[in-house]
This record gives sequence, C-alpha cells and structure tokens, in this order.
Amino acid sequence: MVIKKDTIIYFSGTGNSLQVAKDINSELIDFKLCNVSSIIMEEKIKVEGKIFGIVFPVFYARLPLILEKVLQKLEINKDTYVFAIATHGGAPAEVLTKLRKILKSKDIVLNSGFLMHMPGNNIFSYGASSVKKQNKIFQMEKKKVKKIVHIIRERKNYKCELSKIIIDIIIDRVFIKTTDKIVKYLNIRDKYFWVNNNCNRCRICERICPVNNIQINTDKPIWKHNCEQCAACIQYCPREAIQWGEKTIKRKRYKNPNINLIELIK
Ligand SMILES: Cc1cc2nc3c(=O)[nH]c(=O)nc-3n(C[C@H](O)[C@H](O)[C@H](O)COP(=O)(O)O)c2cc1C
Repeated sequence: MVIKKDTIIYFSGTGNSLQVAKDINSELIDFKLCNVSSIIMEEKIKVEGKIFGIVFPVFYARLPLILEKVLQKLEINKDTYVFAIATHGGAPAEVLTKLRKILKSKDIVLNSGFLMHMPGNNIFSYGASSVKKQNKIFQMEKKKVKKIVHIIRERKNYKCELSKIIIDIIIDRVFIKTTDKIVKYLNIRDKYFWVNNNCNRCRICERICPVNNIQINTDKPIWKHNCEQCAACIQYCPREAIQWGEKTIKRKRYKNPNINLIELIK
C-alpha cells in the first residue's frame, strides 16, 4: 500500500494513544489517522507524505509487538519528517531509543521522539488511579501537545526523550531485564483470562480486541494466544466479567474518558 497523505499511525488499547493522536491531528491540517491494526496485513507500506507520525503505548518498556511488525514493512521517502510519541504510565524507559534503532535498521531517520505521561492502564499490575489524578495528567497532556505540534510544524529535529535522570535509566535497565521473560511469552499470557457468571456474551471484548484474538464460543469468550496484553478486553467489559488470574478481581478498571468505544473499535 502507498500512504500519500501526511499520516499518523497509532495503536491504542484503552484510548490514551488515540487521544494523543487525535489531539495532535486536530492541530495539524489535513492529516490522516490510521490504526496499525488496519494495515498489519499489508505486505509493504510505502510512505510518500511530507510528515509521518507514530503514536503508541509502552508495554513493559517496549513497543507493542504489532507495531514492530508494521515498522518492518515501512519504506519512507528520505525527505519525509518522522516523529513518534510513546504514551506511558510513568516508566517509559528507553523505548524511543529502541524505536529509533528499529527505524535506523530500515534506513529511516526518527526526527523527533516524545514521551507522553498518561494514566497507567496496566491492570495486570495495578488498578486505575483516581479521577482527580487522571484529570491532572490530561491537563499536562494538553500543554505538551501544543509544544509537540510546534516542533512538528517547524519540522525541527528534536532529541528522543528519555526517562529524566540517570538513576531512572539504571532502574529501567533492570526493569527491562526482569520483563524479558514476560515479553517472551506475551502472546500466550492470555491463558490466564477467564470470565465469571456476569458475562452476557455482549461481544464487546471480541470487537474491541485490536488483533482479533478473541472469539465468542457457544457460551463464553476464548482467547486465541495471539495477545498483545493491551488490556482492552478486560478494561472495557461492561460487566467486569473478565478477569486475569485472581489479581484483577478487586482492581478498578481504566478506560480513557475522552475516547468512546466506537472510536476505538473503528
Ligand atoms: C501490559 C502493559 C504493560 C505496560 N508497561 C508499561 C511500562 O513498561 N512503562 C510504562 O510507563 N507504562 C506501561 N504501561 C502503561 C501504558 O503504557 C499506558 O497506560 C498507555 O498510555 C496506554 O495507552 P493506550 O490506552 O493507548 O493503550 C503498560 C500497560 C500495559 C497494559
């Protein structure tokens, strides 16, 4: 496929990355938003626009697997300005350095890379933060969007943002080591999902899964071991029927309040 227009590709489980992509998009004229799930089957993706953006959530200090697969298919014009925004819950580590290396191996220069702190959605480790805390983060997001848009409009070369201080970087490296094993078996970690009797087979989990990993069998959802761990299914289940092991039974669910279900499914 050929992408001729200025485009932002995004991946989003619970709406944070989509919100950031939309907010950037609304400040730039005539941009197209494109969900990576809709282009994953393409053999080659040729980018011919003047500006190309990549917005995604950080998963275990890394890029979503589906995004890595899409990046491998990219061919980008030499004079296209490329930017990326990694949304994260507070520990992004060196994810942008990782992205820059992947792009470099494809002979693509990452002109600017930004970190965007958003409410954490990792229900496998913690529950949603308070609405007050979330709103504070959304206010900061608005400010940072303005700064990013200014840099993109001017097509400025900007550094890839890293975690703030040296100690963070050291902690990040340890974090990456400890999460190596999780990431190795990420696809099959969906074997811990189960549903309780609240499930009424509404099929929202099946529809929201960005990688079509869920199928509703005669009586309940089945996860097909191609999971990204984006948490969309468990966070959006309207009856909180989906659980992951025993850990999530009491945890508060998170979904980005500025993005609706239909937009995410689209
Ligand atoms: C499985 C999983 C792992 C995550 N790992 C990290 C991480 O390593 N560092 C971090 O800062 N946030 C992490 N997060 C939080 C998300 O990156 C963050 O909430 C992001 O904004 C979610 O974006 P989305 O709503 O577009 O999916 C993780 C979330 C999930 C579900």
